[in-house]
Amino acid sequence: MSKTVEKEIAKLREQIRHHEYRYYVLNDPEISDYEFDRLMRRLQDLETEHPELRTPDSPTQRVGGQPAEEFPKVRHSAPMLSLDNTYSVDELRDFDRRVRELCGREKIEYVGELKLDGLSMALTYEDGVLAHGVTRGDGTTGEDVTTNVRTIRSVPLRIDAKKLDVIANAKRFEVRGEVIMTRPAFEKVNAQREAAGEPKFANPRNAAAGSMRQLDPRVVAERRLDMFLYFLAVNGRVPLGEHGKTLDALAKMGFKVNPHRRLCRSFDELLAYIQEWESKRDSLDYEIDGIVVKVNDTRLWEELGTTAKSPRWAVAFKYPARQATTKVMDIRAQVGRTGTLTPVADLEPVEVGGVTVSHATLHNMDEVERLGVKIGDTVLIQRAGEVIPQVVKVVKPAPDGREFKMPKKCPVCGGDVHRSEGEVAYRCVNAACPARLKELLLYFAGRRAMNIDGMGDKLVDQLVDKGLVHDAADLYSLTQEQLANLERMGERSAQNLVEEIENSKKAELARLIFALGIRFVGERTGQLLADHFGSLDKLAKASEEELLEVEEVGPRVAEAILEFLAEKRNRDVIEKLRKAGLQFEQKKARKAEGKLAGKQFVLTGTLPTYSRDEAARLIEEAGGRVTGSVSKKTDYVVVGSDPGSKLDKARSLGVKTIDEAGLLKLVK
Ligand code: IVH
Repeated sequence: MSKTVEKEIAKLREQIRHHEYRYYVLNDPEISDYEFDRLMRRLQDLETEHPELRTPDSPTQRVGGQPAEEFPKVRHSAPMLSLDNTYSVDELRDFDRRVRELCGREKIEYVGELKLDGLSMALTYEDGVLAHGVTRGDGTTGEDVTTNVRTIRSVPLRIDAKKLDVIANAKRFEVRGEVIMTRPAFEKVNAQREAAGEPKFANPRNAAAGSMRQLDPRVVAERRLDMFLYFLAVNGRVPLGEHGKTLDALAKMGFKVNPHRRLCRSFDELLAYIQEWESKRDSLDYEIDGIVVKVNDTRLWEELGTTAKSPRWAVAFKYPARQATTKVMDIRAQVGRTGTLTPVADLEPVEVGGVTVSHATLHNMDEVERLGVKIGDTVLIQRAGEVIPQVVKVVKPAPDGREFKMPKKCPVCGGDVHRSEGEVAYRCVNAACPARLKELLLYFAGRRAMNIDGMGDKLVDQLVDKGLVHDAADLYSLTQEQLANLERMGERSAQNLVEEIENSKKAELARLIFALGIRFVGERTGQLLADHFGSLDKLAKASEEELLEVEEVGPRVAEAILEFLAEKRNRDVIEKLRKAGLQFEQKKARKAEGKLAGKQFVLTGTLPTYSRDEAARLIEEAGGRVTGSVSKKTDYVVVGSDPGSKLDKARSLGVKTIDEAGLLKLVK
């Protein structure tokens, strides 16, 4: 009997490894999240029943063990070098000339890679199993953060034996690469930190580095880090041949290798690659700060050698920083949804990388103090990706610079401003503060919450300023006439909006709970609460003990929920929402109805606005089903950019393909 269990466990692990690879490495899953969770749960159950069969490389063991006390120091097998930087085409030409002279060749082939903005990490595998993950440290010695690296879903815990033949089944090998945080993951962490009154991370790189230093692997797992590999050494040696082939080999072994690498056969091809990515970099969902140029022929790596700090066979081409200097005209406190006051600098408008910037965030008072910035100072500002510009440093203090003090009263409503013990953030305590209300309405109507299309900030400003809306529930009594009288609104858009608002009443309980804007209650917690209590009334009556019984709800979240419900205003809003006819009960098995009832969908590629999860949810809410692979039973394949092999399959089977807009048409 135990033989069959062992077999089932081995099979499940292999399946799960395969699907983790499809999902996290290739971004091209073959099965739905639901099916994946089912496999994982089955494996977990078997391992609980037979703990003696649990192994550290099992997919269930990504987040394991107790928080570390500290990270042991480890010496690298070979130094982790850094790269020389070049900032202009001329400097890059100098590099190329030096390489050609040193090798005595006319022409050199280069591999261009994106320079990922994260932290470098070395991983060693022994008998195909991840044994160590070590940070760069000072280049000679790093910290062993293996428990944290294991939480990165795209890092394989084990390489299947059949994939090891590309390195001749070596017993031991080392790979190196960059750990990054994507922009969506970064925004999510910062939103959570803001809600918790914790200092926000300045950029994704700091967030990734800060996360890797976390002692509790459960926290690291929540951060959704990712890792791209760009280096391989087998038995301490770089495989001799071509770097481009090494990257392909890493990909074959199941590692995530950045797909935007390019073999450039001439210097001009390299320049074209560099230029191409300077304009395309914003389309990535992670940040890059340049291009890494490497000699393709790794035999030449040995010939060229290294200096004390960096190899002579590679160089970084840094894109010009999107920075500018300008003057701080004013600093004010901006009030957010949870009442948090964020200091914002009003700037003399300045152009940064093609965009005019007139505001920059200062994050919080700790940051204002760290920068020492005063009104009137000349500062360096920086725009990175899509995030709002930030102040990097003061370049010239004004002789008569005025210090910014956090106001004692809310600048919008005059309510008291408090700073709770142990929190960085200052908060306006007035729940009826119009600024808080505006932010809350935007949040309530947001796509992840009630999904009321057309409820933008200009509209929300008018609704609040004209006294038409005093809380989220008031949205449901707005009439077409009231809306049509607002600026930038016509009859048609007013009618559409009323319909959108009406439609949002059908949103599931989980979304409604999320939309209420309770501190710490994000989408996932909203779902867990809805699943656990099944109705808003049961949630509203729950005691602290009952709340703590909910999966993933700890004292902090329970307290926030109780605090929210203790406020009469909030209870009144909930009553109004009930009267308006929103979904207070968890609906189940609604699937047989719905516009897409009985229809099967497959998603492939990146959609322009929806994430894969969002699109799947949209389909499932309309009664459709999302599966991982295309078959004759598939009704539609939804195709985004960079589609996988599923598109070819759809074409060969004659399955209908649609894009995101087509999907939205079907649903609406
Ligand atoms: S190669 C000796 N490739 O940039 C080889 N590095 O400024 C050095 N980085 O420490 C690494 N993307 O953390 C390499 N595609 C890439 C990279 C990359 C980002 C980082 C890496 C390195 C730093 C040097």
